Amino acid sequence: MIPFLDLGAAYRELKIEIDAALHRVLDSGWYILGPEVEAFEAEWASYCEATHAVGLANGLDALILALRALDVGPGDEVIVPSNTYIATWLAVTAVGARPVPVEPDPATHNIDPALIAAAITPATKVILPVHLYGQPADMDPILAIARQHGIAVVEDAAQAHGARYKGKRIGTHGDIVCWSFYPGKNLGALGDGGAITTNRADLADKIQVLRNYGSRVKYVNEVQGVNSRLDPIQAAVLRVKLAHLDDWTERRRVLAAQYLAGLGDTNLILPHVPDWANPAWHLFVVRTTERETLQSRLTAAGIGTLIHYPIPPHMQAAYADMGIEPGALPLARQLAVEVISLPIGPHLSPDDVQAISDHVCGA
Ligand SMILES: Cc1ncc(COP(=O)(O)O)c(C=O)c1O
Repeated sequence: MIPFLDLGAAYRELKIEIDAALHRVLDSGWYILGPEVEAFEAEWASYCEATHAVGLANGLDALILALRALDVGPGDEVIVPSNTYIATWLAVTAVGARPVPVEPDPATHNIDPALIAAAITPATKVILPVHLYGQPADMDPILAIARQHGIAVVEDAAQAHGARYKGKRIGTHGDIVCWSFYPGKNLGALGDGGAITTNRADLADKIQVLRNYGSRVKYVNEVQGVNSRLDPIQAAVLRVKLAHLDDWTERRRVLAAQYLAGLGDTNLILPHVPDWANPAWHLFVVRTTERETLQSRLTAAGIGTLIHYPIPPHMQAAYADMGIEPGALPLARQLAVEVISLPIGPHLSPDDVQAISDHVCGA
């Protein structure tokens, strides 16, 4: 049996350190924000080569507060990938703005920069690329278009902890970079968690105030904020795991290389890694027109797989009122019926990947 993901494996590897961190917070009596959250924010900013990090309750809130900090609201448009997890779109509609979907580059599955210019209107306020599956989006052309039109860039890096674009860590290419520490992410908490990173002090400050009831001084409220604070228990766990992130990413990279070599002779479409990309390999996504057959074969062999994602945002009931024809975004639709994610993670062994590859090849 090879599960798609064994969430307990990271805890078992670091049990002594994580237990000590948990007890440190329990003993401290400090259960909201405070030194543990501040220490994680400093360490996460440093890891991302950013000057600021702000810890938040989850990745969706990170996106929502990033858009609020940029004053995005009703009447504004935000360019989003048609091929993404629905959270990217939900953040845009949560602030009352309109998501304007752009199709992916068929090779990388990430937003196609060549299609962005045609989607820009006078109402466009932000371009919101996603580093899907941990593969960095092609940031330079995206930043160039944004600069040309005077609009902001917010990155959804929920799947891209530690990824690099042209050698530089994901974390500060755009104005604000949004992170999720959902347990299954490459850097995952023991519950929900999120953050933003940025090099802009004004935006970090706005988000810090927004996450805490719009308050800097207790019971003095400057703006209508929310309660979206990273929990100190999760911050303490994340600090332990962060020290292992690069090692875990390297393990993922080795397994990805093994898959790419082992599946090279199949008729699957394998992940394409441009020469400027150092992916975080959050997911290993392949494409096939015979997905159901492949998934059934792997399930019968005790190998877990998942589909990321079976229904694109524009085809979800949640967005039926946007009136986007399903056929309007054919590539997002096609990916939704052809993609399948094979198990990958730091706690999978090369033997596991060999066994999975053998089953994929029909052995
Ligand atoms: C691409 C993407 N964006 C945003 C999110 C939202 O993160 P969270 O679940 O922490 O709210 C996720 C993960 O769930 C995601 O995969």
